[in-house]
Amino acid sequence: MNKITIAIDGLSSTGKSTVAKQIANHLGYVYVDSGAMYRAITFYAMQNGLISDDDFNKEALIYQLPKINISFKFNENLGFAEVYLNEENIEKQIRTLEVSSFVSKVAAVSEVREQLVKQQQKMGENKGVVMDGRDIGTVVFPKAELKIFMTASAETRAQRRYEELIERGDDVDYNAVLKNVQERDYIDSNRKDSPLIKADDAIEINNSNLSLQEQFDKILQLVKMTIENCE
Ligand code: DC
Repeated sequence: MNKITIAIDGLSSTGKSTVAKQIANHLGYVYVDSGAMYRAITFYAMQNGLISDDDFNKEALIYQLPKINISFKFNENLGFAEVYLNEENIEKQIRTLEVSSFVSKVAAVSEVREQLVKQQQKMGENKGVVMDGRDIGTVVFPKAELKIFMTASAETRAQRRYEELIERGDDVDYNAVLKNVQERDYIDSNRKDSPLIKADDAIEINNSNLSLQEQFDKILQLVKMTIENCE
């Protein structure tokens, strides 16, 4: 059976990674969370004093980019690949609200995008990949056989993110999470380099009222149709 490339883009907290992982596991494809790579660089910048509440030393980050090595290693127990920064597992550290609140600024830096896009394209060169992000169908894999664009209301997304953070034991406020979701929507959609836009040939799925199972079934059906059409 032919392997295809599946690009899943959309606003933050639309559940892209959940369904992307399910689809990749079902098909035996590689799953790549491209957002984790932007988060890893943000975490590096925070750890190295390049970013704080009112200051972002963009030039220093650009200068240090060659020193930043991001990789993924599959965790058998979790069933997905965790992200490593210079050989340190930082999967947990990159999911905090603090990283979320700075990541859009880092993701707007063209030099950061250039480095990560190259790495992402390399990861997908043999197809059989499901990658989620903001520019996968438009910039990283413009020729992907299947492109999905996921949407849901800001409130629905904030509620999901809030529940995830609470479950992890983080002490967060729903309104702060909603504000972060809205701010990231704005920055991600309005940045100059590779803004979040739906590719012309992407299929839009609004999952505000879909259960995880319904969403998985719907996307799997699209995958099967696409694979059949490619044969
Ligand atoms: O998917 P996520 O919320 O983990 O992504 C974190 C941030 O990274 C998001 O605010 C936008 C940015 N991002 C991006 O610009 N391009 C991608 N392909 C993936 C994420």
